[in-house]
Amino acid sequence: QRRTRELECQQEERTKIIQASGRALWNSTDDSIGALIVMRDVTHLRHLEKVKTDFVANVSHELKTPITAIQGFVETLLSDEWKHTKAARRFLEIIRQQSGRLNNIVDDLLTLSRLEQADTNIIRKPNRILKVVENAIKIVELQASDKKIKVETDISKKIEWTINAPLIEQAMVNLLSNAVKYSDPEKKIVIQVIEEQDQLSIRITDKGYGIDQKNLNRLFERFYRIDSGRSSKQGGTGLGLSIVKHIVQTHQGIIKVESQEGVGSTFKIILPAHREEPVNQQDSSV
Ligand SMILES: Nc1ncnc2c1ncn2[C@@H]1O[C@H](COP(=O)(O)OP(=O)(O)OP(=O)(O)O)[C@@H](O)[C@H]1O
Ligand SMILES: [Mg+2]
Repeated sequence: QRRTRELECQQEERTKIIQASGRALWNSTDDSIGALIVMRDVTHLRHLEKVKTDFVANVSHELKTPITAIQGFVETLLSDEWKHTKAARRFLEIIRQQSGRLNNIVDDLLTLSRLEQADTNIIRKPNRILKVVENAIKIVELQASDKKIKVETDISKKIEWTINAPLIEQAMVNLLSNAVKYSDPEKKIVIQVIEEQDQLSIRITDKGYGIDQKNLNRLFERFYRIDSGRSSKQGGTGLGLSIVKHIVQTHQGIIKVESQEGVGSTFKIILPAHREEPVNQQDSSV
């Protein structure tokens, strides 16, 4: 079996990050004949990743202050005492709407860069999964009832899993809100959670518009939106699913999607049982 580790080496105040991958070698009669070890200097790569993440975090943070100011003053200008003309009110409403949208994008970018910085070092505790799912449903309840969409659950009360509950709740909210947004009114959404040996499987199935096969692999990229007439009218940003993917990855899980246009989609999250492991140890295909 192949193993990969990253090691920090210090020499005269300089730190290098070395990625070492190795595997044992066996001959045809299963005798051990040594090992193959490949070492790669990934210092520059890790440095660039950190610069990118820090940049996104700083820019996002800096954008929050002016956006908050714009939102505050627009709210004030929209109050009755200002007696605006009809046209002025309409423009102010547009400024309010668009600055709200900008605020959501910045929040999503901050969430993404925090997830990247946290990597797999997130706090996890045993949580009742039904509770986490119910909290997520409450958040999309209004959006769903506006379209007369029902959300059904098939989850045993007993299931407990070691997770970061706010993050998994956020992933569920993003998936549920997509299921509502990309379905016709009066359709049904089903959430099913099953505990299988040492993994938890969470499925969210909708009977919505579905996704074309050629778009399926790009769905989790940042800002990727499908430009079908119906999807693009919904005015999202294309960050929702990349956040879900990061949240799942910080739990060492995987996310899969199956979909058929005109039939519906199923997003499936698989979370392995939590084991305390050194953070930088992982199987890799180097
Ligand atoms: N359940 C679904 N059914 C059909 N299409 C979907 C579904 N979920 C996602 N999509 C498609 O995938 C695209 C990316 O989804 P994602 O959640 O990342 O972004 P978004 O919903 O457009 O914006 P936001 O950042 O506000 O979530 C969407 O634009 C939509 O076209
Ligand atoms: Mg979305």
